[in-house]
Amino acid sequence: MEKIDKRFDQLIKNAIEIMNTAYVPYSKFHVGASILDNNGKIHSGSNVENAAYPIGCCAEASAISIMVASKGKKIKAIAVAGDGDLLCTPCGGCRQRIREFADLDTPILVCGKEGLRKRFILQDLLPESFGPENLN
Ligand code: THU
Repeated sequence: MEKIDKRFDQLIKNAIEIMNTAYVPYSKFHVGASILDNNGKIHSGSNVENAAYPIGCCAEASAISIMVASKGKKIKAIAVAGDGDLLCTPCGGCRQRIREFADLDTPILVCGKEGLRKRFILQDLLPESFGPENLN
């Protein structure tokens, strides 16, 4: 746990930096997500909207796709940074996407442009969840 914690500053910095790459012509709401994977690699993504609104992609989904394409198997920690004064907690769909690759005690670091705002674990945000084990 201590070893993972040491990477948190980097993870938070990357999540904030990648917000600048968000493609958000409709909402103008920038989100960045950075994942620390089981190989110690960091994967970052931003939200990508579309004129056909429902097919837009959340930052967390982008970062997860990049992790999988880079052969990462597990999310060890994830930082999410978003615009605005409120906590940019992952949306419901992204909580489930994170659930696929994380443990219930995996840290989720919710950030604003200035840095960390609140630290959660997956269990806080997605209690009594359905996951891959249900299909065993
Ligand atoms: N958004 C994310 O990228 N992640 C979330 O968890 C919450 C919402 C994006 C989707 C959309 O591009 C914009 O924020 C406004 O909803």
